[in-house]
Amino acid sequence: MKTLVYITSFRDISQADIAQIEEKYLHEWRKFGQIFGIRFLAIDMGDLELHVADGSRLLHKGTNLLRADHAFMVSNLSMQPYSRAFMETLSCAIGSSPALLLNSTLKKGFGLEDNKFVSQLIVASLGIPYIPTFAVPPMPNVREAVNRIGTILGRGPYILKPTALAAGISVLKVDTEEMLMSAMDMCTATSVGYIVQPFLSDVDDLRVYILDGNIEAVQRRRPLKGNVLANQSRGASRVSDSVPHDLLASCLRICSHLSAEYLCIDWLVRGEIYMFNEWCTIMGGFSGLSAPDRDRFGRLLFRWIANRIDENSSRFRC
Ligand SMILES: Nc1ncnc2c1ncn2[C@@H]1O[C@H](COP(=O)(O)OP(=O)(O)O)[C@@H](O)[C@H]1O
Ligand SMILES: [Mg+2]
Repeated sequence: MKTLVYITSFRDISQADIAQIEEKYLHEWRKFGQIFGIRFLAIDMGDLELHVADGSRLLHKGTNLLRADHAFMVSNLSMQPYSRAFMETLSCAIGSSPALLLNSTLKKGFGLEDNKFVSQLIVASLGIPYIPTFAVPPMPNVREAVNRIGTILGRGPYILKPTALAAGISVLKVDTEEMLMSAMDMCTATSVGYIVQPFLSDVDDLRVYILDGNIEAVQRRRPLKGNVLANQSRGASRVSDSVPHDLLASCLRICSHLSAEYLCIDWLVRGEIYMFNEWCTIMGGFSGLSAPDRDRFGRLLFRWIANRIDENSSRFRC
């Protein structure tokens, strides 16, 4: 049976947040799944057993999920080092099995889905406006890096953020080099990579949803008054929008460079100025869109998922 499996680490999330995830996201994935004949399962990573002995197995309640008619979305939202390491192994195992890993909608480059440094580097190489970005080095080099950052990115303020997380987690504005030094000291004591960018003032975050080479939805998010982060989880406002011609060309150029089937591309925008911020694949979802975009795009996305599962199953039947 066509199945969409969402794997996350519910144990890292508070009960209140789980209730919100269920209410805001999971019930919609289940609802759209039903329309297109897809069973939806949300599974805690801790309830899975992964092994290779007599064949490869990803067991959930005794059933092997590594099947060609199963598609997976694997969340990377954990600050627990071991959970993240296990998620990475899970993703690689699913990606190398007959099952479909929907996180990797880029035909070129596994692992490029959520690395904010590498995405800036690729976009810069395409001649598309990007945000200058510095990768925070480990101790003890971090000490010297502060002076270099001032020369390369300017005198601040700065944004310090994890190389590969989401939802505004650990994204911090720092105003001075002194604050940057202390913040970077803290970064190097964690198990998450960090990057530094110049802080761009008064910017909105524009998310462009592209499926099979078509721009299907555009959403503009603006931080709450006095806030810095335009993430919905931080209460940012959101409205449907459209893309000017130049930006449309840049979005399509990025998709074609990556051979991406499904990509959400986020731009930081002030007036007529657009700078690439980040991209994401299936975890960009659709539930954050407002009506009627949410319903329309949800249907498109699930039709696409159903088709991909059918194609995958028939490939493995041959
Ligand atoms: N360089 C920057 N200048 C100004 N604001 C930024 C910058 N980078 C990120 N932000 C703000 O922080 C928010 C979260 O950062 P983002 O890079 O999108 O990480 P996440 O993956 O957590 O969404 C963005 O939506 C934007 O509002
Ligand atoms: Mg973002």
